[in-house]
Amino acid sequence: MYYPDEIIEEVRARNNIVDVISEHVRLQKKGSTYFGLCPFHNEKTPSFGVTPSKQMFYCFGCGAGGNVISFLMQYENATFSEAVKMLADRAGIKLPEVEMSAEMKKAANEKQLLLEINKEAAKYFYYALRSPAGKHGYEYFKGRQLTDDTMKSWGLGYSNMYSDDLVKYLRSKGYKDEMIVKSGLASHDEKHGTHDKFWNRVMFPIQDINHRVIGFGGRVMGEGEPKYLNSPETPVFDKSRNLYGLNFARSSKKGHMILCEGYMDVIAMHQAGFNEAVASLGTAFTSGQANILKRFTQDVILSYDSDGAGTKAAIRAIGILRENGLSGRVLDLKPYKDPDEFIKNLGKEEFEKRIANARNSFYFEIDVLSRNFDLSDPDGKTRFHKEIAGKLCSFADDVERNNYLEGICREYSVNPESMRKLVGTVVAQTGLIKPLKPRPLPTDNKKNAPEEGLKTAQRILITWLSEEPEIYPKISEYISPSDFTDELYAKVAKKVITGIENANLIPASIISEFEDEEEQKIVASMFNTGISGPEGNIIENGSKLDREHALKEILIKVKENSYEYNSKKLSSDVAALDDVIKGKKQLERLRGIQITLDK
Ligand code: GTP
Ligand code: MN
Repeated sequence: MYYPDEIIEEVRARNNIVDVISEHVRLQKKGSTYFGLCPFHNEKTPSFGVTPSKQMFYCFGCGAGGNVISFLMQYENATFSEAVKMLADRAGIKLPEVEMSAEMKKAANEKQLLLEINKEAAKYFYYALRSPAGKHGYEYFKGRQLTDDTMKSWGLGYSNMYSDDLVKYLRSKGYKDEMIVKSGLASHDEKHGTHDKFWNRVMFPIQDINHRVIGFGGRVMGEGEPKYLNSPETPVFDKSRNLYGLNFARSSKKGHMILCEGYMDVIAMHQAGFNEAVASLGTAFTSGQANILKRFTQDVILSYDSDGAGTKAAIRAIGILRENGLSGRVLDLKPYKDPDEFIKNLGKEEFEKRIANARNSFYFEIDVLSRNFDLSDPDGKTRFHKEIAGKLCSFADDVERNNYLEGICREYSVNPESMRKLVGTVVAQTGLIKPLKPRPLPTDNKKNAPEEGLKTAQRILITWLSEEPEIYPKISEYISPSDFTDELYAKVAKKVITGIENANLIPASIISEFEDEEEQKIVASMFNTGISGPEGNIIENGSKLDREHALKEILIKVKENSYEYNSKKLSSDVAALDDVIKGKKQLERLRGIQITLDK
């Protein structure tokens, strides 16, 4: 963290969240909360709430949430320090100058250093592209019809002919060889010493969701092998958890995301107005990436190359999307190879049409499958139908399976009754239908993991404690931060309990102790989870009896979970025995008591 905690807290406290958000979103007061249309997802009825008493916002639709700093980070795509800066300016607070000495640099943590090195390198490549020596690279991009604005917003650059100039430059900025090598921008060997990884290439900085440069892709200008070089994975560059272009696509609000294969595809698409395009990072699409996309949409449209390799990759990606509860659709780009070529030749209106007609991924799979069979041959046809039946078995839901069955039968002129029989035979043979992961509701997309139910109880408890700290003395003997089994939850619980004990609990300020936007959202959800009952939120509006009952239930749930969690740990960690015994006793006592709430 750049700024001292007290400064951050002052900046936060002097920017009323209702005022700041009102500058961007129309809010209407309902009770103690202001509501508006969520700026982070598409919606028609407001589920985005801003609570002045908590100085927090939270969207019950998409889970966006946080304090005033988080809001600006998410709304303006700003980093933590940038958001703090904007708010300090707004409130007329002068921030201390941040001057980093060589000593401080050494002391700063490694990730921070690696991010700085990447940023310096990005700047270096960026200026090189615009210098006389970078003419070759600049012309290359021009030849691919990128505008100056596009090159600027993607921070495109150029690595020159020398193979040690970046290393020299980074050294001159005070970075040690060891760190430069660790950043993946250089390698070291006996013969050549420390030398640049990238040279004579056009450079694509890869940014994380907060616009921080975490790695690079470098392309040869013209023909040559390898076509692309990518930074290796480093402590700041996790290829399975980032997507190229997501820093822009996240705010596209198109209601879907388009997943493509290459950096150039993404850039060409954004330039043509398709700012919902992202790509994986020179590696196959992963589950981690599917989960990230799920935060923004249910509808992922694949725009992979139309050749054999692209089709294969698309089939793999469809499987991953499906496993993670996302529905995939597939764009037909024929007769062109990839979206970049397609848009150049047929333009964006045609591309728009292809998006509207993107094929359901199941039909696409069957279509690809059909190419393996000679459908003019009765034998081939039969085998094809059996394969279809096998695939249909993956839909555990009757209605869904039936809909697909009917659609496919229409398409391939198969009698639906015969297909139904065939499916029956396959089920009888294989015994069971392989269940798919249930598809989460669009509004509930982060809460489908099995552990989420338990976490909900933990969230309710944290919310309750923060809204009504006076209940704490009544339950303190049963509960401690270690009952919150997720590391982040435990951290927050500890801060809440300490805050209550010292009578200075400010939930909104707890949020700014987390610089990561995703963490801030989770923390915000911990302070905004209620229990709905017939009269609305039970915590706020329930009768005395309902509230007492609910609190006890929640406590038992949290306690049972931590007891089970500790019991499981026993096999590997004998020290947990004390916790288990203590937990069991507390749980028994808890089941027998009656909690009285005065309100
Ligand atoms: P252009 O051919 O310039 O249009 O680029 P592209 O982005 O369309 O590339 P392509 O479709 O050939 O490849 C898709 C993605 O795979 C690229 O963006 C890279 O991330 C990755 N990739 C392609 N070639 C290589 C390679 O030789 N090595 C590595 N590591 N990755 C590659
Ligand atoms: Mn391409």
